[in-house]
Amino acid sequence: TPKHKIAVLPGDGIGPEVTEQAIKVMDAVGERFDTVFEYCHADVGAIAIDRHGDPLPEETVEACLNADAVFFGAIGHPKYDNDPSAKVRPEQGLLRLRKALGLYANIRPVKTYDKVLHLSPLREDRVKGTDLVIFRELTSGIYFGEKGTAADGQSAFDTCSYQVEEIGRITHLAFQQAMLRRKKVTLVDKANVLETSRLWRKAVKEIAPQYPEVALDFMFVDNAAMQLIQYPTQFDVILTNNMFGDILSDEASVLTGSMGLLPSASVGLHTSMYEPIHGSYPQAAGQDIANPMAAILSAAMLVESLGLHEAANAIRVSVQYVLEKGIGTPELKPGMVYGCSQLGDLIAHLVAEPEDEILV
Ligand code: IPM
Ligand code: MN
Repeated sequence: TPKHKIAVLPGDGIGPEVTEQAIKVMDAVGERFDTVFEYCHADVGAIAIDRHGDPLPEETVEACLNADAVFFGAIGHPKYDNDPSAKVRPEQGLLRLRKALGLYANIRPVKTYDKVLHLSPLREDRVKGTDLVIFRELTSGIYFGEKGTAADGQSAFDTCSYQVEEIGRITHLAFQQAMLRRKKVTLVDKANVLETSRLWRKAVKEIAPQYPEVALDFMFVDNAAMQLIQYPTQFDVILTNNMFGDILSDEASVLTGSMGLLPSASVGLHTSMYEPIHGSYPQAAGQDIANPMAAILSAAMLVESLGLHEAANAIRVSVQYVLEKGIGTPELKPGMVYGCSQLGDLIAHLVAEPEDEILV
């Protein structure tokens, strides 16, 4: 029986409870597809500050580097939000982890589910059929450039810089993904103003001919922000830098009606990491009301990355089935309200025993 080592970083807020459901589902995968997942839990974020005085203890990095994949819950705690200048912050844990694992590409698929389309802030006819994926550069740009504040506190700066090589490696991933999809890449930038954006355009244009079937187009980020809500179905693969990708992926995440359904992957030089995009949602923590589907769909991406394609599909089919039955956690306003853990049990059961019709 093949064994897969998974580093599990539940983190803060609802992170631990949704992570628990993802693990139930991975265990169900193990049962049905004759494979074994071995979990190694480690701390990151506010919980790691509380326990170790460090949002990313060295042993967490070790656990991740020694694993075949990393599952990440969420980080962030309100006690740090009132004081953005606090010296030690949970977010640093995530940023340092991205660097340590070389996670240079953040991949966020945004897909609509007809059953929850009515929850979208957009008109249903605009958003129906949206199926796009954002490739956000994750370990460079303004997030990691030189920064500082003057001694007199009267000025500060952050630098955005990119190397051709950093652009090239994520560009290849984006084009490879486009080849498996509708074969369209949109590079989002601000090349009318920014030097780094002009470098992105040049580097991406040089790589594009290696993928002759893929159509490449360009869009300024301000326009892209508008187009995403006006006409989201036009996009297939969006390729962009760290900062623009951060903003656009939050915008895109609300299109489909529920953030609680959106998974993500961060990939790069070492172990890849899988994470629901909804964040720590502290108001809901510990109440068993959080939607575990994004975490469960992140587990689907994780098992897919280990070559377990059938298992990944079984997870997606089970989530889809539950949605179609009108079952969900409260924020989906479902016909039948389940708790986080109850929904995890149900989806895990459907993955393990797909022929069982559920009785509702
Ligand atoms: C994200 C988050 C992080 C980011 C924060 C928590 C540092 O917003 O994953 O998108 O800005 O990258
Ligand atoms: Mn963000």
